Amino acid sequence: MGSSHLLLCVLLWSFCLIALGSTEHNIVVVPTSSFASESTCFSSLSHVPSDPSRASVPLVHRQGPCAPSGSSIVKPSFQEMLRRDARRNHIISKAVGLTTTLSDASVSIPTALGNAVDSLEYVVTLGIGTPAVEQTVLIDTGSDLSWVQCQPCISTECYPQKDPLFDPRKSSTYGTISCQSGECKNLNRTGYHGDCTDDNVCRFSIGPYGDGSNTSGVYSTDTLTLAPGITIRNFSFGCGHDQQGENDKYDGLLGLGGAPESLVSQTAERYGRAFSYCLPPGNGTAGFLSLGASSNNTAGFVFTPMHQFAPGVSTFYMVNLSGISVEGKQVDIPPEIFSKGMIVDSGSIVTQLPKTAYLALQSAFRSAMSAYPLLPPNEDGLDTCYNFTGHSNITVPKVSLMFSGGATIDLDVPSGVMVEDCLAFDGDSSDNVLFGVLGNVNQRTFEVLYDSGRGNIGFRPEPAEA
Ligand SMILES: *[C@@H]1O[C@H](CO)[C@@H](O)[C@H](O)[C@H]1NC(C)=O
Ligand SMILES: *[C@@H]1O[C@H](CO)[C@@H](O)[C@H](O)[C@H]1NC(C)=O
Ligand SMILES: *[C@@H]1O[C@H](CO)[C@@H](O)[C@H](O)[C@H]1NC(C)=O
Ligand SMILES: *[C@@H]1O[C@H](CO)[C@@H](O)[C@H](O)[C@H]1NC(C)=O
Ligand SMILES: *[C@@H]1O[C@H](CO)[C@@H](O)[C@H](O)[C@H]1NC(C)=O
Ligand SMILES: *[C@@H]1O[C@H](CO)[C@@H](O)[C@H](O)[C@H]1NC(C)=O
Ligand SMILES: *[C@@H]1O[C@H](CO)[C@@H](O)[C@H](O)[C@H]1NC(C)=O
Ligand SMILES: *[C@@H]1O[C@H](CO)[C@@H](O)[C@H](O)[C@H]1NC(C)=O
Repeated sequence: MGSSHLLLCVLLWSFCLIALGSTEHNIVVVPTSSFASESTCFSSLSHVPSDPSRASVPLVHRQGPCAPSGSSIVKPSFQEMLRRDARRNHIISKAVGLTTTLSDASVSIPTALGNAVDSLEYVVTLGIGTPAVEQTVLIDTGSDLSWVQCQPCISTECYPQKDPLFDPRKSSTYGTISCQSGECKNLNRTGYHGDCTDDNVCRFSIGPYGDGSNTSGVYSTDTLTLAPGITIRNFSFGCGHDQQGENDKYDGLLGLGGAPESLVSQTAERYGRAFSYCLPPGNGTAGFLSLGASSNNTAGFVFTPMHQFAPGVSTFYMVNLSGISVEGKQVDIPPEIFSKGMIVDSGSIVTQLPKTAYLALQSAFRSAMSAYPLLPPNEDGLDTCYNFTGHSNITVPKVSLMFSGGATIDLDVPSGVMVEDCLAFDGDSSDNVLFGVLGNVNQRTFEVLYDSGRGNIGFRPEPAEA
């Protein structure tokens, strides 16, 4: 990222401090222009306390002007972005795979989950190697092993990315992991297919993602630079020499799950397995990813207990929903509908609910939005999309999520409720699902704190003041 670009993006106030609408009422009126891209970039970087137990990385919307990949990229259409939700499909196939290897539970996998949804993912820019090479990676709490595309890589094996490919041969701190090592054997347990090459180097592979894409390469170590002067030595990651399938122009992925391969686990001694992020509401704004959490700075958070997906599966961060309300009125959903829990996932866009819960929400939302014409169902499964043509203002109902333990969050309106002009929720084909997914749209503008030490997840509408 050029320094002028960076300057543009670094302002004093975080978007998280800017209330986009009144929270006093159950209905928030927003100018339609809120759906369009903002022209300024905000960053809360300067806002995060310079506490040595915390490291902060600016977080930008993948499609926004602050995204380091910049405007030179031809932006995919919304439909295309939706089709590419490789992450959600990946966590589903991975979760299913891990479950079937760990227990003989006979669970049915809803077919609706096969629909691809992508776009609107979030990236951070990190440095890899010595000297550090900037790489822009998706942040993904639904996976563990981080990877970037690496040299050598021919054009049919690496997809085009904005930043130069990381070349391990040019890094003085690069190393490979031996296939005899415990780390390599562990890859098999976490679903990353550790394998040996002739020269005793550990290979990994990930995928296929739901859209058929995959990545494989050498399991490696190098210095990771999170922020100027804040480095993680000997960080284990995948050097991807063969990527197949459709991808956007990001350089790789940063795994923030709970299994041993993730950044969070690798930095557990330093940052105590706690991290938080704030996802910007839309184009042109920046949030943050912060590793470590000060134990005495939880003012403003509401917490809900976090639980494991299944015994022995530590990747996913799960919570239980207990209810949903629209315009302040609780939607009639039997609480047992939510009993499978929800994976809180930074890498999924749309929230996925059991069928009955979704239909009840859909009905309440549609009646609150009856002033606007519904569009036919979107081909990727979203069925509550509106034609706002001709409206200079639209009125969107407040939607709140209630979690077990009583934590309630009022989603940001409209950025946390709608994606493009669609309700950012989707339903499974049945109630007999393995789990739900709390997607990143609903999380927008909150600081979401994953505190494994205390076993809970917190949400607060504003980050701490410095
Ligand atoms: C982001 O900006 C692009 C054009 O730059 C626009 O097509 C898209 O709708 C915007 N998305 C959001 C969520 O504002
Ligand atoms: C992982 O499993 C595969 C297939 O079962 C096996 O070939 C490979 O040797 C295992 N990797 C390690 C490092 O043990
Ligand atoms: C990756 O995907 C390609 C094309 O879809 C396929 O031919 C290849 O076998 C896959 N590789 C792995 C390791 O899954
Ligand atoms: C670097 O990490 C690898 C894999 O975690 C480990 O095997 C190796 O001993 C580490 N090296 C140093 C110098 O810490
Ligand atoms: C919070 O804890 C840090 C050290 O962990 C300490 O330096 C700071 O003074 C504490 N702040 C308050 C408000 O207690
Ligand atoms: C989530 O719900 C399930 C099923 O009702 C229950 O067994 C579990 O204890 C709940 N977990 C938490 C953390 O509330
Ligand atoms: C949206 O409404 C406008 C005018 O009301 C109409 O001209 C347009 O065709 C509609 N668009 C879609 C996609 O239905
Ligand atoms: C839209 O809302 C703004 C203030 O929120 C108001 O000034 C304006 O009159 C409204 N426009 C219409 C057409 O209702």
